[in-house]
Amino acid sequence: MKVSMTLNEKVISSEIKPNLTLLDFLRSEGFFSVKRGCESGECGSCTVLIDGIPKASCITLTIQTDERIVTTVEALATREELSDLQKRFVEVGAIQCGYCTPALLLVAEHFLTENPKPSEKEVRDAISGVLCRCTGYVKPVEAILNKE
Ligand code: FES
Ligand code: FES
Repeated sequence: MKVSMTLNEKVISSEIKPNLTLLDFLRSEGFFSVKRGCESGECGSCTVLIDGIPKASCITLTIQTDERIVTTVEALATREELSDLQKRFVEVGAIQCGYCTPALLLVAEHFLTENPKPSEKEVRDAISGVLCRCTGYVKPVEAILNKE
């Protein structure tokens, strides 16, 4: 079947199998920032934005994104420059192995759009759906709280 979507501001169309997950589709298109974790909607590693809302791509069928807008972390930076939030992650040392980082950034970008001046608890609640095995969340929370 045919699917069309706007992927990182580019309109694309592909022939896909009906049971192809968005996670597998995006990785087959070369978007390896979309990480494979639990594949059951639990760990959040595979999160992308669909019409601006964070969703687990492992439990989303590609065909469900037909005529939708899909955003991966690659869209946050330009070729020349990281986003402000990405810079903050680097500055405060919020990245260790990096496996969770694309998902954390997408969730945080969406959250900060809706709540630009959050409390620490609100930040922790917002990113609680993304499992980070390394940082204990201290530095990512610091980076998100300090976004200008
Ligand atoms: Fe999708 Fe874990 S891989 S939620
Ligand atoms: Fe390793 Fe978060 S930095 S899982």
